[in-house]
Amino acid sequence: MNINDMIETNTQVASDAPADVIGVDGQQAEALIRVPCRHNPRLQAAVEAVNEDRELHALWRCANINAVDRLGISDHGRVHVQIVSNVALRLLRLLVEGGVQPSVVRHHGLEEADAEVIVFLAAMMHDVGIAIHRDRHEELSPILAAPRLSAILARVPDYDVEAATIISSEILHAIVAHARDAQPLTLEAGIVKVADALDMAKGRSRIPLECGKVNIHSISAAAVERVVITRGDGKPVRVEVQMNNSAGIFQVGELLRGKLDNSGLAEHLEVVANVQAEAEKRLIPLFRL
Ligand SMILES: [Fe+2]
Repeated sequence: MNINDMIETNTQVASDAPADVIGVDGQQAEALIRVPCRHNPRLQAAVEAVNEDRELHALWRCANINAVDRLGISDHGRVHVQIVSNVALRLLRLLVEGGVQPSVVRHHGLEEADAEVIVFLAAMMHDVGIAIHRDRHEELSPILAAPRLSAILARVPDYDVEAATIISSEILHAIVAHARDAQPLTLEAGIVKVADALDMAKGRSRIPLECGKVNIHSISAAAVERVVITRGDGKPVRVEVQMNNSAGIFQVGELLRGKLDNSGLAEHLEVVANVQAEAEKRLIPLFRL
């Protein structure tokens, strides 16, 4: 299989993220978001606007202080949205290659390039509501995301007011619909929901486990080594979850299954899980009640 036909999410994604850069004004800027733009100038313009939006970067930091420092849960900031956006674009492109039509094309007469902008920006902003509170953050994110979307979409040359309004609405829908019990009404929203759930490789649970949170959530998450997304045989997308311990089944059978079933994407995805190691990894030395 050609390496370009695969996308993997694991701890390497985080550690391979670009180093911090110094902005033109001499201040420390956020590390850049990078996604494969594949000659989509609208997506390219959106990525550039995101990378220059210091208010959005500050929101990611606020969300992570609430998530990591105050609640002791895993990263929900820049690294998370980098991973989710790459996975979402990969899923969208495989689905389109497999003949699945994005909803913004079907219902609004826009283009596949616009669907890429929608999943990218929805991934960027889906969790910013955690800057306010994690509880019901899916409903809080639009409050903070809407003004950022106005600013960012205004910088995409192809978009007039009407197009920007449609795209913004589709993004806000995807943000709200990433809640576990919310029903996505668009393909793009379903993609963001599944991409969010696929940020599950072991490094993503390191913080809770290192904080001493030993439960099925942290242990099963630590058991997931890698998520590999490729073209499927019978379906457009194959998701392979590689585990070092069978405990990872909980992540797939319970958490991912639940999100997939409520994503509208289940018919297009085949999901497999396997234990890669010859001997299962011991994840905790001892468990006391
Ligand atoms: Fe998320």
